[in-house]
Amino acid sequence: MDLVCASANPNKYSEISQILSGAVNLIPRPAEIPEVVEDADTLEGNARLKAIAVRMATGCAALADDTGLEVDALGGAPGVYSARYAGEDASYEDNVSKLLESMREATGEERSARFRTVALVAWQDGTETIAEGVVEGAIADRPSGAGGFGYDSVFIPTVGGGKTFAEMDDEEKNAISHRGAAFRSLKEHLNNTTS
Ligand code: IMP
Repeated sequence: MDLVCASANPNKYSEISQILSGAVNLIPRPAEIPEVVEDADTLEGNARLKAIAVRMATGCAALADDTGLEVDALGGAPGVYSARYAGEDASYEDNVSKLLESMREATGEERSARFRTVALVAWQDGTETIAEGVVEGAIADRPSGAGGFGYDSVFIPTVGGGKTFAEMDDEEKNAISHRGAAFRSLKEHLNNTTS
């Protein structure tokens, strides 16, 4: 089964194609497809916008994902706005600084949070397959670790032995991450529906 990957990020492409190997032949996103404005108000909505744009541009079924960090002390923010929490052109550092600043008063269990990823396949007949992955954890008091991206330096997964995602290598992170969980769940759905 051929699926075009809506993400242009080569690291994401290789992580996703490794997870889905055996179930799907993942085709890289053609360079000429323009960026999609991700202005839906849910992760599923944004994943749908990206997958449908790529399906329409290529004529092939397409796979997209969208991720948010949900912090309990902030009522679930930044959530779907994680990429632009500190403003439209915010860097990862700007977003992390704003997050730590917003949580200055939160201690102990008040720092609980989770990453959530929605993965969505837009099929050529207009139907969809949707899967979700979640990893529970907490927001650290300060950044630690040099790996990863985004909020990795301040996210301590519950099952990670106290390390932030940025203190793990890719393999260690992918084994427990929200994105890994979403794509492993998607693979199960695809295997169940095609067998
Ligand atoms: P996207 O939907 O994968 O583009 O993610 C939206 C935003 O969530 C990114 O800009 C990052 O700030 C954050 N994010 C997504 N995945 C991760 C992750 O694995 N670690 C840390 N931050 C992430």
